[in-house]
Amino acid sequence: MEKNFKRTLITTALPYANGPVHIGHLAGVYVPADIYARYLRLKGEEVIMIGGSDEHGVPITIKAKAEGITPQDVVDRYHKIIKDSFEEFGITFDIYSRTSSEIHKKTASEFFRKLYEKGEFIEKTSEQYYDEQADQFLADRYITGTCPHCGNEKAYGDQCEACGTSLNATDLINPKSAITGNVPVLRETKHWYLPLDKYEPFLRKWILEEHKEWKPNVYGQCKSWLDMGLQPRAVSRDLDWGVPVPVDGADGKVLYVWFDAPIGYISNTIELLPDSWEKWWKSEDTRLVHFIGKDNIVFHCIVFPTMLKADGSYILPDNVPANEFLNLEGDKISTSRNWAVWLHEYLKDFPGKQDVLRYVLTANAPETKDNDFTWKDFQARNNNELVAILGNFVNRAMVLTFKYFEGKVPAAGEFTEYDKQTIADFENVKTEVERYLDQYRFRDALKEAMNLARIGNKYLADTEPWKLAKTDMARVSTIMNISLQIVANLGIAFEPFLPFAAKKMRDFVALHDFNWEELGRTNLLKDGDVLAQPTLLFEKIEDSEIEAQVQKLLDTKKANELKSYKPAEVKEDTSFDDFMKMDIRVGTVLECTKVPKADKLLQFKIDDGMGGRTIVSGIAKYYKPEDLVGKQVCFIANFPTRKLKGIESQGMILSAEDADGRLVVVSPSDLVKAGCQVG
Ligand code: MF3
Ligand code: ZN
Repeated sequence: MEKNFKRTLITTALPYANGPVHIGHLAGVYVPADIYARYLRLKGEEVIMIGGSDEHGVPITIKAKAEGITPQDVVDRYHKIIKDSFEEFGITFDIYSRTSSEIHKKTASEFFRKLYEKGEFIEKTSEQYYDEQADQFLADRYITGTCPHCGNEKAYGDQCEACGTSLNATDLINPKSAITGNVPVLRETKHWYLPLDKYEPFLRKWILEEHKEWKPNVYGQCKSWLDMGLQPRAVSRDLDWGVPVPVDGADGKVLYVWFDAPIGYISNTIELLPDSWEKWWKSEDTRLVHFIGKDNIVFHCIVFPTMLKADGSYILPDNVPANEFLNLEGDKISTSRNWAVWLHEYLKDFPGKQDVLRYVLTANAPETKDNDFTWKDFQARNNNELVAILGNFVNRAMVLTFKYFEGKVPAAGEFTEYDKQTIADFENVKTEVERYLDQYRFRDALKEAMNLARIGNKYLADTEPWKLAKTDMARVSTIMNISLQIVANLGIAFEPFLPFAAKKMRDFVALHDFNWEELGRTNLLKDGDVLAQPTLLFEKIEDSEIEAQVQKLLDTKKANELKSYKPAEVKEDTSFDDFMKMDIRVGTVLECTKVPKADKLLQFKIDDGMGGRTIVSGIAKYYKPEDLVGKQVCFIANFPTRKLKGIESQGMILSAEDADGRLVVVSPSDLVKAGCQVG
């Protein structure tokens, strides 16, 4: 349905303030939203972009408990980190606020109250798990037990992470409270439910018939939810962190986080525009667009619209361009497993390279399917695209102008046919970029913008002004004029995508006033305009920088393996006599060398206090021989002698086998006399 909108309200999913933000957040939500907002602003449209932290919900209370601090402490810490990260990446929120603010609590509370008074909720009593010692109801995440599907003993009340099945807490075998470890009991509790089923006919019509233009992944998910049939959803919880349910007799109950968080979009708008917020939310000529990740689709396409519809005074979203997920080096990004590239850490490792990440995340955005971020691809896109195409063209255009025209824009003479073709090509870029941006296809839009730089590069390569400089300066003047006009155009075209580099490009050519409509023109710069000395727009990223990042991830993998390490089963009982038969001793390593032609073996000369002995041990992969010399080791002194690679080994050195199979030599914790017995 084509409508005549006057303004656009962009909302971006409110990230949970229980951890910092990572590349997945940026790629899925904030970079596309920011590109879109910058584009509309550049076109002179009326637009606001709303963001904020989602500060309620169970994960935040769990984190607080684990650290022995209050939930408010948790959200204060991460709200700041998240807000700073977004700012540094140039995400241009008109407001970035938070759901623990007073104005939000008031707004959410009043929203609930209105629906309550309209009789929109169903009140229902059900049985839920209760921890009698902790004296509280248990959120699903606070209950663990055995998964009825796969037998995993550490499944949560809402989901088994081993087999991925979503569960009800009452499905768990041997449920336990995560707070006290006690067996919880079932107790009756009252909650308020939003009757989604009642709104199903409306939702079917509104989405399935009137919004066929939504992205296939979004439309498809909505369709399958609707086809499964909707159920009433509880919008309250028994919890002590959140917006209290504003009804008598609701002590100890708060609004469910997924009820209060989307209202955060409204309360943050009110905070930004206390006097004029209603035109953004209640006027049919406002276009509301929600930028989110795919795990949020049901809440933004079904639950929140139902809330808005039930209220009756709000507009509904015009579009919900949700993205799929970005994986990292082949694995799902995970905050709890620390499998992520955190934005604040990226900026420490790659200072000033915000645009490189913005570029890579857009070029590889998970718009239609899950995508993978790899450091190799990051490096390749930087080196082969940003440096070799965009940076290279701009730099050549600038340097040549300084060389031949003292850094001033030279006049254009008559255009050749080839010039005219080039100009036509780059005039066309505007139409293409717009066409894609209007469809929320940011990867393709970026590709088109990049085409402009390709056109510039090709133009310089084909016209070869450095050769003509000896014979035909008038022609060189025209070529450089056109090239600089392309630089100025790049400074506009890239403003939504790479705001830092775009600003630099405009500064190079002293283009201070600009807007989107001027894109594609060849008269952005006037003859004689004075250019600024160029600096490099992008620099090559070396292998060593990429290797360091890959190593960091390998270390994380390793740490996770150690965390999830399960020691081997204890062997059958032995006897004291059997144990006493073993003669374990401490020796000091006198010499240690690699055994030739055996990549696993080290040959030791051990001082055993009895004249010394030779032992061969299979730990060469884990030690440098020289690092072991002088160390004390434990060895079995009465182990039968055996020949290894022709060397007689008189005993066995004891090592511990770590989770990853690495062997670590066992040593006494203090220096002892060589030859003394262990037992
Ligand atoms: N905090 C949620 C998440 O990270 C998103 C909330 S979006 C809002 O998945 F609509 F509720 F604000
Ligand atoms: Zn399971």
